[in-house]
Amino acid sequence: MILAPSLLSANFGNLEKDINMINESQADWFHIDVMDGVFVPNISFGQPVIKFIKKLAKKPLDVHLMIVDPDRYFEDFKNAGADLITVHYEACTHLHRSISSIKQYGMKAGVVLNPHTPISVLEDIIVECDLVLLMSVNPGFGGQSFIENTYNKIKQLKELIIRKNPSCLIEVDGGVSINNYKKLIQAGADALVAGNAVFASENPIDTIAKFKE
Ligand code: DX5
Ligand code: ZN
Repeated sequence: MILAPSLLSANFGNLEKDINMINESQADWFHIDVMDGVFVPNISFGQPVIKFIKKLAKKPLDVHLMIVDPDRYFEDFKNAGADLITVHYEACTHLHRSISSIKQYGMKAGVVLNPHTPISVLEDIIVECDLVLLMSVNPGFGGQSFIENTYNKIKQLKELIIRKNPSCLIEVDGGVSINNYKKLIQAGADALVAGNAVFASENPIDTIAKFKE
């Protein structure tokens, strides 16, 4: 199981400390949430902050773009240090072109689905995907509660993946906690994002270790 702590819940007053904590922990990736205040009702941070994270991070950067027309910035995010970029199905008119472009820049590419978007829309793009990220909350904020229908979506996605692209990973983002991670893995998830569950816990390193048990 891949665990990707979300830096959205980190302490921006001392990001270096939280980056080092993740470096020393058993976590696998850094999950980086980029929000533009248009696609989602919140603004987070952009390339200068990611460049700083990249300088210190000893693990891959999983960059989740919650922005409209993301193609404009793939080169910038590559230069900032992104290893994997995920774009929203709901934000890309020419999704096939977007996924191809991310790969041409030498990064892994994934599609994100909002909670209301059915798995069936992936039928013709799944062969191009390194990963699919299922939102288990409406994107925009950390600390929201998990939407239960996600389990059904994981199972449907797993069937599609087995049928068309067995190497594609399933990642789940939003409301993931120590109470639901086992069920998510059993349903077929390969990677889990955890923001609040890690950073609001008393001992984040221990919490990460519990997830990885
Ligand atoms: C939500 C972001 C998530 C968020 C998850 O829009 O995509 O990555 O940081 O936070 P938690 O784990 O607290 O729900
Ligand atoms: Zn995210």
